[in-house]
Amino acid sequence: MPSQLFLTGANRGIGLAIVQEALTRGYRIFAGARRPHQARELQALAQSRPDQLTLIPIDVSDDDSIQAAADQVRAHADRLDVLINNAGVFPRGERLDNLDSQTMLRTYRVNSIGPMIVTQRFHPLLQAGSKVLNITSQLGSITLHMSNHYSYNSSKAALNMLTRILASELRPEGVIAVVAHPGWVQTDMGGPAAPISPAASARGILNLAERLTPADSGEFFTWEGKKHPW
Ligand SMILES: NC(=O)c1ccc[n+]([C@@H]2O[C@H](COP(=O)([O-])OP(=O)(O)OC[C@H]3O[C@@H](n4cnc5c(N)ncnc54)[C@H](OP(=O)(O)O)[C@@H]3O)[C@@H](O)[C@H]2O)c1
Repeated sequence: MPSQLFLTGANRGIGLAIVQEALTRGYRIFAGARRPHQARELQALAQSRPDQLTLIPIDVSDDDSIQAAADQVRAHADRLDVLINNAGVFPRGERLDNLDSQTMLRTYRVNSIGPMIVTQRFHPLLQAGSKVLNITSQLGSITLHMSNHYSYNSSKAALNMLTRILASELRPEGVIAVVAHPGWVQTDMGGPAAPISPAASARGILNLAERLTPADSGEFFTWEGKKHPW
């Protein structure tokens, strides 16, 4: 039985690279995207591997959309081995004098709350040994405090704490939950100057997912599998 994976934000960037890498590793993949009918690369992959890849519409800022996605995956699968909350947004140019509450709320909705509601609605598919990887960022590290992006950095710091709590609650079930920094990656978000390719990041994230044990639950890792400062 192949490992079964669901991820969000699968249509571009790191998410698309995770789909490509997971296909080569033989996973059964449920790839979540806001508008899968417009996702050309995903569509082409799904057409070439219809038994291995199913596209699932999901907007992680909309609870009804999340529930519909969970229902759709449950129609095909009775368990998930890996759940990757990858979708994210990164507003730029924030300063105290232009800080906008709607931008902050939207960022928290996608980056912090979305992964929690996705995990809540997919919980019936998680079993002992299932792994939840919440894709955070080094910019969410309070210890490192690497930049002043108010909404993004604080949304990822919140995701880090939410994941700690989630790991604690799910520990008795044997479900493992971690946050993972994917590296600074060449995507629309990371920009062309980033040193890491999406493919290399995706390989690291799947390597991490495959080697996680219950003792790792609640921890903050890099895409290379090292512990990251909180
Ligand atoms: N790239 C980096 O250097 C870097 C570094 C640290 C952490 N990260 C994190 O890694 C993850 C992936 O980043 P990336 O670089 O691949 O970003 P990206 O290229 O900008 O892609 C972002 C993805 O998130 C999806 N998304 C945004 N809002 C969504 C929503 N409401 N519902 C569902 N999907 C939504 C996008 O879908 P649409 O196409 O529909 O917008 C897209 O698939 C993010 O969580 C990001 O914070 C990235």
